[in-house]
Amino acid sequence: MLLLPTAHSKLPTPNSPPIHTSASHANMSSNHNKVLIASDHAGFALKEALEAELKALGYEVDDLGPGSEASTDYADYAHPLAARVSSGEAERGVLLCGTGLGMSYTANRYPHVRAAVAWTPEIAALARKHNDANVLVVPARFVSDEDAIAILRTWLGTPFEGGRHEKRVDKIERDPDAVDPHA
Ligand code: RB5
Repeated sequence: MLLLPTAHSKLPTPNSPPIHTSASHANMSSNHNKVLIASDHAGFALKEALEAELKALGYEVDDLGPGSEASTDYADYAHPLAARVSSGEAERGVLLCGTGLGMSYTANRYPHVRAAVAWTPEIAALARKHNDANVLVVPARFVSDEDAIAILRTWLGTPFEGGRHEKRVDKIERDPDAVDPHA
């Protein structure tokens, strides 16, 4: 089934709506046109398809691997991508593994990274509107190529709504001065 971007989303171009940045992250420079992409072996084939789609849309794509379907460990690819989004070097990243779970667990350990597993365009739209997701995680074994492209396009083209969602997104970051109850 071919799923098109939702009515809420705009046509994704390199001028896609910017990712919201918290005050502590706002002074980092990032390349608005650059999208990082990485997968494990389960997401490799779909990574290639989404990379081609991103390039066709005019994005600069930095493929962090892997380069084949040989067995890999998802965290080895999620860490480098998440670190670069966390630092502000890149504004957006796309991760793919079989379920999307291992990639999201790993990426979400980094400050300022909001990695959303999306298996429909509607979830991708809400991940942008409400959660300002800056990393899209695609469960490669559970979506078709056509679905994944619709999910990608929706995520790229949907702006963060801000408003009441802004303080909620800001609260995701841990207070660096908070006392660790387990310390
Ligand atoms: C690989 O078999 C699979 O476990 C991985 O792609 C992912 O689904 C893990 O979360």
